[in-house]
Amino acid sequence: LTLISAAIDGHPVTPEITPAGLSCEVPDAPFLWDCEVEIAPKENTALEGLYMSNGMYCTQCEAEGFRKITFYPDRPDVMAPFRVRIESDLPVLLSNGNPVARGTGFAEWDDPWPKPSYLFALVAGELVATSERYTTSEGREVDLNIWVRPADQGKADYALDSLIRSMRWDEEVYGRAYDLDVFNIVAVDDFNMGAMENKGLNIFNSRYVLASPETATDRDYENIERIIAHEYFHNWTGDRITCRDWFQLSLKEGLTVFRDSQFSADMRSAAVKRIEDVMTLRARQFREDNGPLAHPVRPESYTEINNFYTATVYEKGAELIGMLRRLVGPEGYRTALDLYFSRHDGQACTIEDWLQVFEDATGRDLTGFKRWYSQAGTPRVKVTEDFKDGTYTLHLEQETPATPGQDEKAPQVIPLALGLLSPNGDEVLPTTVIELTEARQEAVFEGLGAKPVPSLLRGFSAPVILERDSSSEERAFLLAHDTDPFNKWEAGRSLAREILIEMVTEGAAPAPAWLEALASVARDEALDPAFRALALRLPGEDEL
Ligand code: SER
Ligand code: ZN
Repeated sequence: LTLISAAIDGHPVTPEITPAGLSCEVPDAPFLWDCEVEIAPKENTALEGLYMSNGMYCTQCEAEGFRKITFYPDRPDVMAPFRVRIESDLPVLLSNGNPVARGTGFAEWDDPWPKPSYLFALVAGELVATSERYTTSEGREVDLNIWVRPADQGKADYALDSLIRSMRWDEEVYGRAYDLDVFNIVAVDDFNMGAMENKGLNIFNSRYVLASPETATDRDYENIERIIAHEYFHNWTGDRITCRDWFQLSLKEGLTVFRDSQFSADMRSAAVKRIEDVMTLRARQFREDNGPLAHPVRPESYTEINNFYTATVYEKGAELIGMLRRLVGPEGYRTALDLYFSRHDGQACTIEDWLQVFEDATGRDLTGFKRWYSQAGTPRVKVTEDFKDGTYTLHLEQETPATPGQDEKAPQVIPLALGLLSPNGDEVLPTTVIELTEARQEAVFEGLGAKPVPSLLRGFSAPVILERDSSSEERAFLLAHDTDPFNKWEAGRSLAREILIEMVTEGAAPAPAWLEALASVARDEALDPAFRALALRLPGEDEL
């Protein structure tokens, strides 16, 4: 970044430039800062700031890329409307907001919504669009365009369809409509992240936009739909309401991952989506919590914020939103979100602001719950039980192992969803949520005719590790009879793991109870086919 000239209120100044930035004397009142800089996008191989990918100019400014474009108070709580003029002989010139002027060799864009610099974007290149017009629930006509290189023309139909469904869904489920006259998405081949939610101009790693039936797998389509939705949902949870500082990253990412999971669950199989999310959480976030890089959802310090775009901030952050929703109920959640959008629109917020909204909307005290944001590590919940004279008692203990820098852990607020089944397979207690808040607690169920089989942590209601001794008969029983699809799958999975290991180490034959339970899942027409396919899939070598 080379400074060519700088002026304050029209008077040239000579600032001091250090690696930390630029400093100079400023008036003790509002003033106009004017500067010209020179940069070399072709030489920018960090893919942060303005760079080139396959002959196309593009940007990535989150978290701190804008400072590689010009001198600016590059922090998320500095929000401003942007007006951008691009001069170039390339045919397509894009930036944030609405197009306001276009002529030979230039284009001007105006973004009326105040935003932090990390949401700035610019694209210039030879691109073609797949387009559609969309009318929002508020009656606004929006031009939707997905821009790709000419060689990729025809591969953006699914992305466009996903975008339209995302826009409708956010209107219906969260009451959030789009707020500009155009929405542009550009597919870029060289991109550090999956995609980026720049206001009105999302930039995507092309693998999450381009698909053709000849080469794309079901998983590719699922990912495109999910990431298109994720970036679109950021328009409200990220752009209209942003983060005060980067410690609050999960404020936008945890919430937006939670929203895109809800969307995928609505578009596809909710059970399969939940199971896949938990598999990813265990494979990535639990490992993070269990290793030297364990950190809380809201980190306390960082030297490089780019290293905090982690499974903990994103996926565990999303789990915290899911727990909150379970604690206050779907209606309380919706009321709280309405209040969040009305109270904080146009602001740069904190986790405290977010929790305060839930407290104000529902009257619930969330002091204890807040610990989830500051305490790293995966809690273990140990369960033992006894049954006497029709009374069934669960003894519950929780403990979070020490993580680097956090030796002492306090108990967490854990919503534990559970149900009870009678020995004939009927559900005697439908899903009920008990809240663990202490290191040790008991849950007592009276008036039972026989010792029930518990189905614990239904829907994976909290990001914890459940420790309970259970027999393989009991797991086969749950695989066959549990009404909770997550636990049905979970029971089958742990049984399969155990049986496969026995088959390998002892040459044992597969247990008949397991095979029968699998057959009953396969034959159950009431279950979603995608769920049945997933439940019949064996654990991979990695997991074994
Ligand atoms: N903010 C971006 C996203 O998560 C960074 O990848 O969508
Ligand atoms: Zn995101």
